[in-house]
Amino acid sequence: MSAMNLSNAIVTGGAGAIGSRLVHRLLESGADSVVVIDDLSSGYEWLLPKDSRLKLIRRDVCDIAALGIRLKEPTVFHLAAFFANQNSVDHPFDDLHTNGKGTLAVLDWAAKNDASRVVYASAGCSIAGHGIDAPIHEDMPVSLHLDTPYQITKALGEFYCNYFGKQVSTVRCRFFNSFGPGELPGRYRNVIPNFIWAAMNEEPIVITGTGQETRDFIFVDDLVQGLLLAATTPGANGQAVNLGTGIQTRILDLAETIVRTCQSRSRIEFAPRRDWDHSPRRQADISRARACMDFSPSVDVAHGIFRTVDWFARNRARIDESVQVAV
Ligand SMILES: NC(=O)c1ccc[n+]([C@@H]2O[C@H](COP(=O)([O-])OP(=O)(O)OC[C@H]3O[C@@H](n4cnc5c(N)ncnc54)[C@H](O)[C@@H]3O)[C@@H](O)[C@H]2O)c1
Repeated sequence: MSAMNLSNAIVTGGAGAIGSRLVHRLLESGADSVVVIDDLSSGYEWLLPKDSRLKLIRRDVCDIAALGIRLKEPTVFHLAAFFANQNSVDHPFDDLHTNGKGTLAVLDWAAKNDASRVVYASAGCSIAGHGIDAPIHEDMPVSLHLDTPYQITKALGEFYCNYFGKQVSTVRCRFFNSFGPGELPGRYRNVIPNFIWAAMNEEPIVITGTGQETRDFIFVDDLVQGLLLAATTPGANGQAVNLGTGIQTRILDLAETIVRTCQSRSRIEFAPRRDWDHSPRRQADISRARACMDFSPSVDVAHGIFRTVDWFARNRARIDESVQVAV
């Protein structure tokens, strides 16, 4: 991996669950300068390291052109987003603002300021649509019948990447379900932090569906490794690459693993599936990321859960405080 391309980095959404882990990793890898643009709407300053090479700009990513950022040929990791499906159903205009206009603003700025590459955080759910019962490959047709505004605007971001691709190098990384240290529980967050928080507080773990549904869960540090590879692999330019594990996990198995790991007495309960959720199974085909970038996720779900629970236990007071403020 060429460290040169990563010496100057901009991470939009860098105070978020994935962005903050990426920032840690960039600094540990010897970056000279990392600029985070984050309005802290769903991110937390305490997730970021204290480091003189790091600058946090607390602003709307749509304002990127007005921030006076001067970095030589930066790599831009564009992770800021209005997160995620249910939130976009409840607030579709906010979703379009950040995920649509924000992505346009980042690409336009990157093209005009000699960015070496833009790595865009797309979503595995964003392109293929529902009813697919097979590993999702990058070349599957784009559905015009997506289930949520978030899926639509994540796909829109990919259209913009392709449009700007003649002016600036872009890679569209299609994340599957990320989990790990750094993601807090909350109404609009993913299942794993919510299940862990419920288990730690001896509250019922509520599965929306039958529990037989599957998702492809990727540990956040493996995902971060994929982002670094996407930033530094010449052959990734212009590509879409799935960042998942290629392995499906049943939601019921996940809940049971979490209860066991937390040594909790929480009961598992079931509620109706959310009305926009028409995807009983999700699995990435990661053969392209393996072949093109030597991507090789290594943390299995059980071990990743163990590390995540450990992080929750060590940060319980701060998580509790942050969750109270967010309510
Ligand atoms: N977590 C997943 O499983 C997953 C799956 C697919 C795609 N993604 C994508 O990965 C990226 C990171 O996801 P995450 O899980 O870290 O989410 P997150 O909510 O923790 O991080 C997003 C960050 O963007 C910031 N933000 C939101 N609106 C902003 C705005 N207008 N201006 C500046 N900052 C803003 C938030 O404060 C937050 O820190 C997102 O683009 C998301 O769509 C995540």
